Amino acid sequence: MKYSIFKQTLPYNYRKLFVEGYQHVTVDNEKWSLSLRDRALVGSLSRTLNAPKYLARRTLKSLAGAGHKPIAEMKDGYALCDGADVPGMREAFAVCEEKLAIYLEYLRSGGALPEGVNPEKYREEMAKTATDPLKHVPYRYDRDAAEALLRPFLSPQLYLTAANYLGLLPVLASVRIVYSPNEASDGLRSSQMFHVDPEGARQVKVFVAARSVGPENSPLTFIPEHHTCRLIESGGTFTGRRVKDFKLAKHVPESEWVSHVGDPGRTVFVDTSRCFHYGSRPSPAPRLLLYAQYLDPFCSMFDAHGRIRKKLGIKYGFHQPKTIVERYLLSRD
Ligand SMILES: [Fe+2]
Repeated sequence: MKYSIFKQTLPYNYRKLFVEGYQHVTVDNEKWSLSLRDRALVGSLSRTLNAPKYLARRTLKSLAGAGHKPIAEMKDGYALCDGADVPGMREAFAVCEEKLAIYLEYLRSGGALPEGVNPEKYREEMAKTATDPLKHVPYRYDRDAAEALLRPFLSPQLYLTAANYLGLLPVLASVRIVYSPNEASDGLRSSQMFHVDPEGARQVKVFVAARSVGPENSPLTFIPEHHTCRLIESGGTFTGRRVKDFKLAKHVPESEWVSHVGDPGRTVFVDTSRCFHYGSRPSPAPRLLLYAQYLDPFCSMFDAHGRIRKKLGIKYGFHQPKTIVERYLLSRD
């Protein structure tokens, strides 16, 4: 069955559009992502309903771009580059190492946390990814560390790459330290299989190698946009939540799959809504990355009233924006 918003009632779509946003769409107890075409349609509707804010973000993108150069240009849904020299990146790597050491020690000993860290909140944060192959390493208890992690992603080199791709100044929805233990397990689960993400018709995720990444660390592996969209639009298996490697290999040779491997600083921008991807499979060595997500604030996952945009703004409420661009990036406006 191919899911479409047109198969739903008007009240259902009204609730999704204005109250909840189309996030993970569940139909008949099966999880389906809203089709790419539907997500684009909802995005257009949201832009129309929020025309002044949309125009402000488009204008800000152009103003923010004057005098600055993006570090890369996304083509076919992705860009690979070296982000080691982005202002604040090396300091952010040091924070990744420090917070990972605390995390691993906590896992090992089950008790020791630095002074001032609330163990309950720490455990709460850890629990969010307890069963996922990709773990979020807690850091928000440390204001200075959180500022250091935000800094590189507030630099024009990085946000302009995402802004140029999305066609407007995006919101910085998430910044995380992500750690994949890559331990042995029975079969592949969730994000270890090829899938596309549900947040809108377009989005930009940024993964930066905080330590070297090679084939032994199970790198992020993805299929460029033109192949992915062609397969999704063909229907059948490819509209499902997860796709097996051999099915993809029948249509896209492995030589065209792209892997995020390289020295510390190696960076990939990838539209995970439009590129099939997987990572963190059982492998000989773990992986440590710095991660950020730039979203179009008018994408289908947000309600058209903008309440979730405000919620995102609270997430980084500790940061005092220095410019109007930062205010918009952190969804205060
Ligand atoms: Fe994903």
